[in-house]
Amino acid sequence: MLVLGIETSCDETAAALVTDSQTVLAERVLSQLDDHRPYGGVVPEIAARAHLHHVDRLIAETMAEAGCAFSDLDAIAATGGPGLIGGVIVGVMTGKAIALAAGKPFLAINHLEGHALTARLTSGLDFPYLLLLVSGGHCQLLAVEGVGRYCRLGTTIDDAAGEAFDKVAKMAGLGYPGGPALERAAAGGDPTRFALPRPMKGRPDCNFSFSGLKNAVRLLIESLPKPLSAQDAADVSAGFQAAVAEAIADRVTRAAAQFRARWPEGRHLVVSGGVAANTLLRQTLARIGEESGLALLAPPLRLCTDNAAMIAWAGIERFRLGLIDDLDFAPRPRWPL
Ligand code: KG4
Ligand code: ZN
Repeated sequence: MLVLGIETSCDETAAALVTDSQTVLAERVLSQLDDHRPYGGVVPEIAARAHLHHVDRLIAETMAEAGCAFSDLDAIAATGGPGLIGGVIVGVMTGKAIALAAGKPFLAINHLEGHALTARLTSGLDFPYLLLLVSGGHCQLLAVEGVGRYCRLGTTIDDAAGEAFDKVAKMAGLGYPGGPALERAAAGGDPTRFALPRPMKGRPDCNFSFSGLKNAVRLLIESLPKPLSAQDAADVSAGFQAAVAEAIADRVTRAAAQFRARWPEGRHLVVSGGVAANTLLRQTLARIGEESGLALLAPPLRLCTDNAAMIAWAGIERFRLGLIDDLDFAPRPRWPL
């Protein structure tokens, strides 16, 4: 089985060809970072226009690299939401057009389902497993029971973790995108110099919150001499990163206990999303997993961040179950799993 995946829901335009034997035949991911950098964040209108400009060429390159024609495809899968609506429309309309022209089934994929099933593409992992999804737009803990069967154990009540990284990096003058810049700065910092809150720690649910921590960092930065010295920026970064890692660790520990009680056959904790690139977070999660009886599984980074292989793979998983969509599918800016 061969499926073309298309991803355009945020600031990556991506295409991929994936087979049901878990092989990525070819893929392209075009990051729009340079387009958005002058604005310090993703500008939806610019993103939508960039997707429109690049998506056809990226699909053509992907098909050519794999030596495939549209007639070879079994289905076309495009991200149907959630995401920035202009971009989602571009991907959905492109996918539908190819499906219609080639007479192939169309699959509208929930972007979060793409992230949730990636570990099965990369490692053939069996259900159930516990998933921590930490990206710029999402922060959730899910028990993944099967295709289309996701039990949400916790979610953020305000910001996503990556969003908090990006905002704090901006406040500390570290540039865009914030997560990697902040991690680099934190390497030379003292995480214990400033006392920062560990949001939600000890709460009985598994939810996240980052806006209070973000605000505490804002007040801290306001109290420091301007311009911020490199050491102050490093110490703020290290303190923030440690607070996020500890807060997430507390939430994951709680979710792992619930997961082990309800799904005792589950053996894995999977982490996905751009923030999974963070080394301190990965180390922390590996420790939490071990203490909770779950092995940490992190897909390769290029498949943790936004990409089209995960969309094609989710398409394969759904197609195998006969779950295809109509060509009148309407793009969904909001679409909880
Ligand atoms: O999954 P992703 O590529 O895009 C979506 O948001 O869907 O995640 C991007 C997010 C950004 O907020 C970025 O700052 C964060 O992941 N990020 C990091 C690191 N690398 C990327 N956060 C912390 N540490 C990192 N090393
Ligand atoms: Zn994503």
